[in-house]
Amino acid sequence: MRKITAKELREMWISFFEEKKHKNIGSASLIPENDATVLFTIAGMHPLVPYLLGEPHPQGKRLCNVQKCIRTNDIDEVGDNTHLTFFEMLGNWSLGDYFKEEMIPWSFEFLTSPKYLGIPVENLAVTVFEGDEISPRDTESAELWEKAGMPKDQIFYLPKSDNWWALSGGVGPCGPDTEMFYVKPQPKCSPNCNPSCDCGKYVEIWNDVFMQFKVDEPNGPVTELKQKNVDTGMGLERVLCLMNGIESVYETELFKPAIELMERLSGKSYNDEAYRRSFRIICDHIRCATMILGDKNGIKPSNVGQGYILRRLIRRALNYARQLDLKGEDLVLVSDTFVDYFKDFYTELEDNHKFIQDELHAEINKFQTTLVSGHKEFEKILAHLDGDTIDGKTAFRLYDTFGFPIELTQELAKEKGLKVDVEGYKEHFAKHQETSRQGSEHLFKGGLADTSEASARLHTATHLLLGALRSILDENIEQRGSNITPERLRFDFNFPRKLTPEELQALEDRVNQAIKNEIDVVCEQMSVDEAHKSGAIGIFDSKYGDIVKVYTIKGYSKEICGGPHAKNTRDLHHFKIVKEESSSSGIRRIKAILD
Ligand code: ALA
Repeated sequence: MRKITAKELREMWISFFEEKKHKNIGSASLIPENDATVLFTIAGMHPLVPYLLGEPHPQGKRLCNVQKCIRTNDIDEVGDNTHLTFFEMLGNWSLGDYFKEEMIPWSFEFLTSPKYLGIPVENLAVTVFEGDEISPRDTESAELWEKAGMPKDQIFYLPKSDNWWALSGGVGPCGPDTEMFYVKPQPKCSPNCNPSCDCGKYVEIWNDVFMQFKVDEPNGPVTELKQKNVDTGMGLERVLCLMNGIESVYETELFKPAIELMERLSGKSYNDEAYRRSFRIICDHIRCATMILGDKNGIKPSNVGQGYILRRLIRRALNYARQLDLKGEDLVLVSDTFVDYFKDFYTELEDNHKFIQDELHAEINKFQTTLVSGHKEFEKILAHLDGDTIDGKTAFRLYDTFGFPIELTQELAKEKGLKVDVEGYKEHFAKHQETSRQGSEHLFKGGLADTSEASARLHTATHLLLGALRSILDENIEQRGSNITPERLRFDFNFPRKLTPEELQALEDRVNQAIKNEIDVVCEQMSVDEAHKSGAIGIFDSKYGDIVKVYTIKGYSKEICGGPHAKNTRDLHHFKIVKEESSSSGIRRIKAILD
């Protein structure tokens, strides 16, 4: 197979689908807006959920992009050949337009045609859904694969656990899928193994989801969607590996500048088995942190939500840096290599470069202070120690509160002729992991990219609130963050001081006046240019010349926005501000409900 660069692969993907009349919508933010149910964008379809459920998309019914994604469930596996927290997903969508008959031959063409990936057919295998009591066996996809040129014995029927795609938590649009694999013979495994075997013979590269169903609540019934969609996702890093005959994602061009820099700074070699895992973890975590900080909705490290994940990534990287004798500050240089490598494609990285560097520096310094307190705590522990072993609970506390990796605790203990109960530490660690896993599952409970009517009403209330802030307080006020659950809205905006009770009352009154006036929420589509000329405010993930949606609430608000919204302001009943507080320097935050 011919070698290919990441840039060529991205361009090849986009041009293939543009030729098939798709619009490139570019990557959406990694940090979802108006969606409190997930921390990060986990797939290309994620920002498109409202459109998969039936909202018209301003760019049409055929879309494609390269999407920045983050999945942190497998963070502890990072360091092997394949796991990454940040990755790029090549995707295309049909929003109620084409379906299996078009998508399967296109997938075959992209994979096998010498003009595109040119993978020999004998190196490919595909799986289709075998059917169950709820949904039929997908013989149609199997027949389409055969017709396209896939030999019958390379098509496998598998159960729902393999060939059904739904979001974590099971809520949202879903459907049967057909997955495509690159076949790497594994002489040690049974010749009869199939793509569900994890011997390494079958490497999944692409997934076509035929999204024709939806689930509205956890464990709820599966119902037909208004429209039949296609949602596909191809892993850029994996394809890059197999096209270039590379075993590990970390050995692709994506990480080369970072690894070379770390080798120079540390004097250690990536090829040294003793250090390879540390190299890889630092690469993954610092790349992911750089992408979070450099995002258009970039956030800072903190102790909650996305900020906590960011903090964990940076601190974990710092711990591994210690093992390579790298200084904390060296990680800022590692981050620079990623900005440099990715900035042509994700231009926001260049715009936010200083923010990325400043925040990394700040977090590194903070962590170093924590480590100093940790050392003090360690001395205290020694003073009170009974016997010659530091128990598991204490070792875990040093890790959890002071960021001491178990290896550090062991080293310090050894210097004093002491032991550490590592098994006990692991038990506490596992217990903690289980609790945080349950916590993150809980996040999905409200349904993903929640499109409930309650959220749509709060979204409309958010527009009215911004309109009121601009007309009552200052016309330069802009949205700096928005987060909506079915229960409440949370809105951040630029303003230098606390609001007075009178001002809060005036804001409430203005929104409630709009509600009383029973105004239709009108949606129109126009170019970005026309939208701005018409006085609409707001930004949208779009390029010049693109068509956007503008929502108008006459007399109160006109914003570029993806929707969905209430149909008429009367649906909002009554608006009430429950809290006004500082969010960060120069940014205020309002929480409000509809009752
Ligand atoms: N949404 C599908 C996936 O993530 C394409 O695999």
